[in-house]
Formats: sequence, structure tokens, C-alpha cells
Amino acid sequence: MKIIVVSDYERMSEEVAKIVQAQIAVKPDSVLGLATGSTPLGTYRKLVEMAKDGLDFSQVTTFNLDEYVGLAGDHPQSYRYYMEQNLFSGVNIPREKTFIPNGTAADLAAECAAYEEKIKGAGGIDLQLLGIGSNAHIGFNEPGSEFGSTTRLVDLAESTIEDNSRFFASREEVPTQAISMGIKSIMQAKQIVLMANGENKADAIWATVLGPVTSDVPASVLQLHPFVTLVLDEAAASKL
Ligand code: PGA
Repeated sequence: MKIIVVSDYERMSEEVAKIVQAQIAVKPDSVLGLATGSTPLGTYRKLVEMAKDGLDFSQVTTFNLDEYVGLAGDHPQSYRYYMEQNLFSGVNIPREKTFIPNGTAADLAAECAAYEEKIKGAGGIDLQLLGIGSNAHIGFNEPGSEFGSTTRLVDLAESTIEDNSRFFASREEVPTQAISMGIKSIMQAKQIVLMANGENKADAIWATVLGPVTSDVPASVLQLHPFVTLVLDEAAASKL
């Protein structure tokens, strides 16, 4: 595990954007695994700036980690909407190369299996971006998720519903289920970059880096991956 600690959120975002830029430079048709939430917003802003300066997404394919069950792509809290607003509309990526699980599919199990197949069909993920939950979830792989898990329907942890309620009008509106890539789907990526900022992530980062590898701390599995970089601000790294 390589750990980069920077002063603040801006620097963290720059650092991660530069890793994405380098990935696309060496492989223009890269397959990127993308994350949502507050943490990657700065990275996506930087990538949009880089795209204005010529960073070319025309051959890139993307797979998002997860999507809420029950929210259509035009719902402002859906992750499809988030990606459209924060990245896709600002770069020249063809929409047919952007994959996000469909949380309104009639057959959710079939949707999950098909998603996993699409990742395989694209040749696997070259670079997977991750945030981390305060409970150390990655994607929506909550504590207890099996390391062998692939894309599937998951129940959100109470703490996740609480954390994400800030984006919804009320806690009751937060979906309780999602489709999430599994731990195995994430671990199959060739390179993984996990970013975290803020003191509320410090315990999760400590457990991820220095704690035992256990499904109670989903991100701790990253200790077993050969090519992982953590990009942290000082607050998130404060307990290391
Ligand atoms: P956040 O979420 O970036 O909004 O803190 C991270 C996550 O849950 O993975």
C-alpha cells in the first residue's frame, strides 16, 4: 500500500486527478472504475478542467461502483445523475461507454449479473477510484460483506443511511438498498486509488491500514492488493 498524505482536500483532489490523467495518457482506452459521494467531487472538477485543456476521454470506458435501488437516472440523488452533473457533461466521453447499475431494473439479480459480465467484457478495470465510508465500506460493501462478493443487491447499513441522509430532504427518503459492485469485483481492478479527507474518516483509515484484514472493515481487504494508493488529507491520516 502506498500512502500519500497531503495538506488538504484541494491537494488530495489534484493528486487523484493526476493519477487518472496519467492512466489515460498511458492507455487512452482505459477502463475506469468510478465512485460517488462528496469525496471525489474535487477530483471530478479537476478532470473537467484537464479535459478543457485536452485530456481526452473519447476512448475511455467507465463503471460506477454502485447505484441506489429505486432511483431512476434522472432522480437528482441517483448516481447516474451525479455522474452526469459532475463529470460526464464536462468531458468528451461517449455516454454508451459509461456504465452504472440500473437501480430500477425489473430483475435486479439479472441486472447485477449482467453488470459483472459487462466489466469482464470490457477487459476489467484498469484504475478503480474509491471513497470510504465512516464504517470503512467501499462501494456499498458494508461491514460483513464477503471478500468473494461480486455485483449484487445490498442492504445499506444504518450508519450509511444516516451519513447519506444529508443529501435527501429527510432520512425516510434515503433508499435502504443499492446495487453494488462486490469486494471481489473491486479487488480485480489492476490499480486502486482510495481517497479520504476529514477527521470523520480517520478511524476508518486507521483500521484500513493498520488493523487486521477482516470483513468487519471492508476496506482492510486492500492490504492484500498489489497496487493500491491511498491519497489522504492530514485530517484523515491523523490517526496513522
Ligand atoms: P463520502 O462517501 O465521500 O460522501 O464521504 C464516501 C463513501 O461512502 O464511500
